[in-house]
Amino acid sequence: MAKLTPQDACKQTIEVCKAAPVVPVLVIKDVAQARGLGEALVAGGLPALEVTLRTDCALDAIKIMSEIKGGIVGAGTLLTPKDVKNAKAAGATFGVSPGATDELINACEEEGLPLLAGAVTASEVMRLLNRGYTVQKFFPAEAAGGAAVLKSFASPLPQVTFCPTGGIGLHNAKSYLDLPNIECVGGSWVAPTDAVNNGDWAAIETLAKDAVATLSK
Ligand code: 3PG
Repeated sequence: MAKLTPQDACKQTIEVCKAAPVVPVLVIKDVAQARGLGEALVAGGLPALEVTLRTDCALDAIKIMSEIKGGIVGAGTLLTPKDVKNAKAAGATFGVSPGATDELINACEEEGLPLLAGAVTASEVMRLLNRGYTVQKFFPAEAAGGAAVLKSFASPLPQVTFCPTGGIGLHNAKSYLDLPNIECVGGSWVAPTDAVNNGDWAAIETLAKDAVATLSK
């Protein structure tokens, strides 16, 4: 298999970011929740889903969610080459990591999994840019200074488009999305733990619809 180039990886991650203003960040503790949760979010207008590899059933959840019509399912919290292999085998079509290591980037290129890698400082952004990654995650967004930092990056680093994640909700998402260098935000607020545990898919679909109605450009 030919290696995925950074340019092709970014073409694919920007499409994921353009799918909707929010990429739900999901921590799935029970695989029985996967289909209902995924279908509710997709029906609510949020097709791109990040399933974090933080639970035992995350890979099985990706397998199930990748069968949902209209869904675009990725694996989050990728830390190691093994995570990349497992995510790809489970059917993930993109990967997300809180930061970036050369080992992880190399593994994603080898496996053909487009990576949305994380950066916080100008040097980290430049390091990813040197490897050809013009689409990046900004994590942890609020704790790292929020939209003000990304607004500041837009002048010296206009070629980089960000997906900020961490501490973002309906109350502050617009402050990011209004910036020229933001295509979408990531967040868990559209899939609150209580609603997921209760299987309240109608509530989750409503949260997704509210996000789309409030935040679409
Ligand atoms: C995470 O890693 O859990 C994401 O950054 C989601 O953050 P949030 O729960 O603050 O939206």
